Amino acid sequence: MAYCITVCMQKGGVGKTTLTINLAACMAKQGKKVLVVDTDQQGDLTSTATEYSVSTGHFAKKGVYDMIHAHDIAVAANYVSHTQYENIDIIPANANTPLVPGLIEMSATASNGTINKYEMLALCLCEIADNYDVILIDTPPNQGLLVQNALYASDAVLIPIHSTYYSLQGLGEMLRLFFELEKTADTEINVLGVVLSMVKSRVAMNDWLQDNLDEKMRDNELYKHFGIDETKFFKSTISNNQAIVEGEIMGPAIFNVSDKRKSMGGKKKRETGVYKAASEYMSLCDEILAKIGEED
Ligand SMILES: Nc1ncnc2c1ncn2[C@@H]1O[C@H](COP(=O)(O)OP(=O)(O)O)[C@@H](O)[C@H]1O
Ligand SMILES: [Mg+2]
Repeated sequence: MAYCITVCMQKGGVGKTTLTINLAACMAKQGKKVLVVDTDQQGDLTSTATEYSVSTGHFAKKGVYDMIHAHDIAVAANYVSHTQYENIDIIPANANTPLVPGLIEMSATASNGTINKYEMLALCLCEIADNYDVILIDTPPNQGLLVQNALYASDAVLIPIHSTYYSLQGLGEMLRLFFELEKTADTEINVLGVVLSMVKSRVAMNDWLQDNLDEKMRDNELYKHFGIDETKFFKSTISNNQAIVEGEIMGPAIFNVSDKRKSMGGKKKRETGVYKAASEYMSLCDEILAKIGEED
């Protein structure tokens, strides 16, 4: 049975999608069978990992919407596509993704209470979980019903944030959603950990974390409830990396390393950016696998 992780933060641009595909690649590189699920209608994960692209209108025929729509008459495996990467499959986003929350509401209402509107994605993923070691769900920048379904379906949540004061506010808002969902959906949300993404200076980051976290832990019941203290922050952090900003890294960093080395010749500076990204994501992946007890 796969271990299912939702990558979640209601702010956009914090690195959710980049984190999801890079972690999937690092896990695949270590021999894990990985399924990624794109629940964001922008379809960034889908366009990174497949030939499909929401922005050009080249849509996957089968995606998350289609799987949920057919959940009681077909096996979810029919809705899985291969990515261009070995050991990584995807349930893609397509033109229907924005309609998923409405579909879920409708199906739950039509079922006369036999279907809980938070568990529809979980029911679908249940059918295919045995085919994978890990399922990673990328989410849109909101707190909508599809995100709540992803949280309900997951064993744990991974939260990427920037190292700024406002990110801790965003984290607080996220925790409030988890808390509300625990009550309304009668579930338990397990925060696997918080990842600092796009870190500019490691030293400054450590000071920042110490100053801000102590204060939050003292005063904030939600932080206490979800056990958010310094041990919940992964030691591995992801640097603000020009190679990612400038699009030098095509797809997951780890799959760029050997090709780049051959083709970059003397361009040492750029090569460093690619290697740095690859090794940071791999180090984070190792920490995560250790935490979920998936390590060989
Ligand atoms: N470590 C990083 N350093 C610099 N830029 C990054 C990094 N990770 C992601 N980005 C860039 O930041 C933007 C937002 O990242 P993305 O993963 O799409 O965030 P989200 O999914 O949370 O909206 C993208 O343009 C991406 O290429
Ligand atoms: Mg995204």
